[in-house]
Amino acid sequence: MTAHTPPPPAPPIGLLVELTHRCPLGCLYCSNPVALERPGNELDGETWKKVFSEAAALGALHVHLSGGEPTARRDIVDLTRHASQSGLYTNLITSGIGVNETRAGELVDAGLDHAQLSFQGADKETNDRLGHYKGSWERKRAFAGYVTKAGLPLTINAVIHRSNIHQVAAIIDLAVELGARRLEVAHTQYYGWALANRAALMPSKAQVDESIAIVQAARARLKGELVIDLVVPDYYARFPKPCAGGWGRVAINVSPTGKALPCHAAESIPGLEFWNVRDHSLSDIWHSNPAFNAFRGTDWMPELCRSCDRREIDWGGCRCQALALTGDARNTDPACHKSPHHERIAAMAMAESESGDGVLRWRSYKTDKVEA
Ligand code: SF4
Ligand code: FES
Repeated sequence: MTAHTPPPPAPPIGLLVELTHRCPLGCLYCSNPVALERPGNELDGETWKKVFSEAAALGALHVHLSGGEPTARRDIVDLTRHASQSGLYTNLITSGIGVNETRAGELVDAGLDHAQLSFQGADKETNDRLGHYKGSWERKRAFAGYVTKAGLPLTINAVIHRSNIHQVAAIIDLAVELGARRLEVAHTQYYGWALANRAALMPSKAQVDESIAIVQAARARLKGELVIDLVVPDYYARFPKPCAGGWGRVAINVSPTGKALPCHAAESIPGLEFWNVRDHSLSDIWHSNPAFNAFRGTDWMPELCRSCDRREIDWGGCRCQALALTGDARNTDPACHKSPHHERIAAMAMAESESGDGVLRWRSYKTDKVEA
């Protein structure tokens, strides 16, 4: 009998690099791990450049320069230039804080192709409060102006939760006003800090349904002017999302310290060893790191998914969510209505949506920074 050897994976399409976990904002729903990486442990610029060259050689098409706040890196212009010269489409995912017009111009000259700017709400008070940063509203609006003036495509990203869900229509108006070509209305995904703050963030099912209707109406109204992507909340879904496009299928994340991950929360899964880009090439990691093969394809799936006709649509959903909500990363994502855990998590979401805000854990290096 010969052992079954899976075919080699197709090249990744994209690379998402968390250049740093430093960030001026303190969002309650940040997807970074609660144990943030310290600046002294970050990869140096030469290693990041090696990673970009290797990603392009491997066949990746684009790189998302993310964080934390990627522009907190003093070498962000140099890194952007190298990524662009390597042949990667470069997307800066930023809060817009700390980027003045000169720095924005340098990024454009270095070959930046696209900017994705976060807003925490549709007005000054909401934005500054939820980002935990006074003056963020003006700075974000200014950054949007630098991007559109330079002729670069701008995407606005707004993470939606109980404290801003009533502003979805106003956020759409804001994106139009700022000249964005795309808007992501992204209901909170509960990992990292968002998981720690879930009871304070969870909206009700009725609020979610209303927000979806507002987006659908706006899509029809703004056709040709603004593309609106909608990320729906898992806990009220019928089917899970194809998390990260499928484990080890289309994307590689790299942490500030150089750990290559199949998704941003992969380190929450015990028993997986993630190779570091300091020690291994990206190609070696993509093809041979057992952690990337752990949930690749369909062979790993439990019977429920393996015999399901959606198995190559959502790839069984999210491994990190399966672990967080069922205790086993190999289980079907409980966002799926076929999961035996589905009813329980929907009931939990409804109960949390009616709870008080409780203790808030603002994103910080001090993990004890809480506020009643
Ligand atoms: Fe997706 Fe598995 Fe649910 Fe089928 S059973 S819809 S593959 S999560
Ligand atoms: Fe890890 Fe979804 S966040 S698989």
